[in-house]
Amino acid sequence: MSSNNPFRIDNNVKRPPRDLRKVAPQVPAVDLQIQQRMSKVKFKIAVMSGKGGVGKSFVSSNLAMALAAQGKSVGIVDVDFHGPSVPKMLGVRGQALVADDKGIVAVEGPFGVKVVSIDFLLPKDDTPVVWRGAIKHTAIKQFLGDVNWGELEYLIVDMPPGTGDEALSVAQLVPNLTGFVVVTIPSEVSTLAVRRSITFARTVNVKILGVVENMSYFVCPSDGSIHYIFGENKGKRMAEEMGVPLLGQIPIDPEIASANDQGEPFFMRYAGSQTAKVFLSIAEALIKSTAG
Ligand SMILES: Nc1ncnc2c1ncn2[C@@H]1O[C@H](COP(=O)(O)OP(=O)(O)O)[C@@H](O)[C@H]1O
Ligand SMILES: [Mg+2]
Repeated sequence: MSSNNPFRIDNNVKRPPRDLRKVAPQVPAVDLQIQQRMSKVKFKIAVMSGKGGVGKSFVSSNLAMALAAQGKSVGIVDVDFHGPSVPKMLGVRGQALVADDKGIVAVEGPFGVKVVSIDFLLPKDDTPVVWRGAIKHTAIKQFLGDVNWGELEYLIVDMPPGTGDEALSVAQLVPNLTGFVVVTIPSEVSTLAVRRSITFARTVNVKILGVVENMSYFVCPSDGSIHYIFGENKGKRMAEEMGVPLLGQIPIDPEIASANDQGEPFFMRYAGSQTAKVFLSIAEALIKSTAG
């Protein structure tokens, strides 16, 4: 074997004393930056579900507004890179992310909620984001570490569906993740998928703060009768069976759908509605459970 074989171990080489050796950095710089930024955020709550289209983004956005309406300083980070919906639901689509010497400046949404989403960076409405997991991991790092979040009481993370790359990245990257809020609709198909999310949360050792049952019932506008479109209380029962709190039940309501579609922040536009009250009580429950 030639003497300049790089893999050769030469036991005769004199090593410097231990204290003089350069200490290898334990934490890469970017992670330190995440640690620093996130140390100023008291509670970090990720909103997840087993499935798409159940209302995660609607719940995240309105929960952020409900917390802010109760005087909390709130940020929301949208890590659904393939279907970013938070800017639209908060009525701040079309704004741009800018940077100054302290980092990326979040867009200011209703009630002063700080908003960060890939949507602010896409040139056109039909631009797809075609990224593999590793790139999304890097983007999540940047959203957490490069944005000047400042001092916040709550950071809400709006997740894509399921327990894939982004969920793992969020669980790994957010230091002291306070917990998950799990959204379901009261159908077997959704509750089955949500059971997987709950098991995922337990696997990664993150607390489940509770379940939000969305699209629970429909109130007929002509006679006020209640119709259970997907099933009655199936999300509630699933929460009981899994031993997690039910945070609230939200009706299926054409006004919710149209406010979201028109980019009008629902909680603000329909501040007196029953649904806005449900969001306030979910926010209160979370404030209580994070304080305790
Ligand atoms: N309670 C509700 N009543 C009526 N429409 C709703 C309700 N919740 C969500 N939606 C609508 O359903 C669609 C999916 O909601 P979204 O929050 O984007 O789901 P997800 O983030 O889970 O994919 C959106 O068009 C939204 O406006
Ligand atoms: Mg969504």
